[in-house]
Amino acid sequence: MAIKHDIIEKNIGLMVILVVGAISFGSLVEIVPLFFQKETTQPVEGLKPYTAMQLEGRDIYIREGCAGCHSQMIRPLRAEVERYGHYSVAGESVYDYPFLWGSKRTGPDLARVGGRYSDDWHRAHLINPRDLVPQSIMPAYPFLAENTLDGKLTARKMETLRTLGVPYTNEDIAGAKDAVKGQTELDALVAYLQGLGTVITSKR
Ligand code: HEC
Repeated sequence: MAIKHDIIEKNIGLMVILVVGAISFGSLVEIVPLFFQKETTQPVEGLKPYTAMQLEGRDIYIREGCAGCHSQMIRPLRAEVERYGHYSVAGESVYDYPFLWGSKRTGPDLARVGGRYSDDWHRAHLINPRDLVPQSIMPAYPFLAENTLDGKLTARKMETLRTLGVPYTNEDIAGAKDAVKGQTELDALVAYLQGLGTVITSKR
């Protein structure tokens, strides 16, 4: 046995192949079962696909890089649960492509920000965070209130998501353009924020 190990240690090519093999096998053992666990693949009860407005808002959230400062993942730790509410579960994100869990928290976690403030609060905060939180270092996004949506791609986005398993109905898709056309980017973003994490609620 000792001699055989000698062969591996002295042959870097063979060693690399065996190391890659061992890591790949280990990873597969950890990852593959997740594809078959209901807990990670099924939506939590009551989860609905994003409305046309929320979907556009989510794309603005991605475009503006909000995820660079805000996570959407409450860990099951006491301090987090007390501050943000029930910890995040995988079934809440099954309609998210891509998911926006993130790990950078320059600002607070937003996984359950939905319903915490009024729409007006969000509008004022996004236009200039310092009007509401004087010490805030969050950038201002006043231009969102001036940009309007044309809704040209909304239906196609929904169709694409449907191929990935998001249960949009034909009516959802047919009405998508009218639902967003002429609305501001700010309103879409607020609609998205107000829906975040509202399926699972807990006393805060
Ligand atoms: C440079 C980092 C940074 C970026 C980028 C950023 N934020 Fe923030 N955000 C913060 C900080 C810091 C706070 C806490 C102070 C405050 O409330 O303004 C905050 C607070 C918030 C809050 C209030 C959360 C709470 O629970 O009180 C919301 C909602 C929010 N941000 C949304 C957004 C959205 C939407 C975007 C993208 C358009 C964004 N943020 C981009 C740093 C950032």
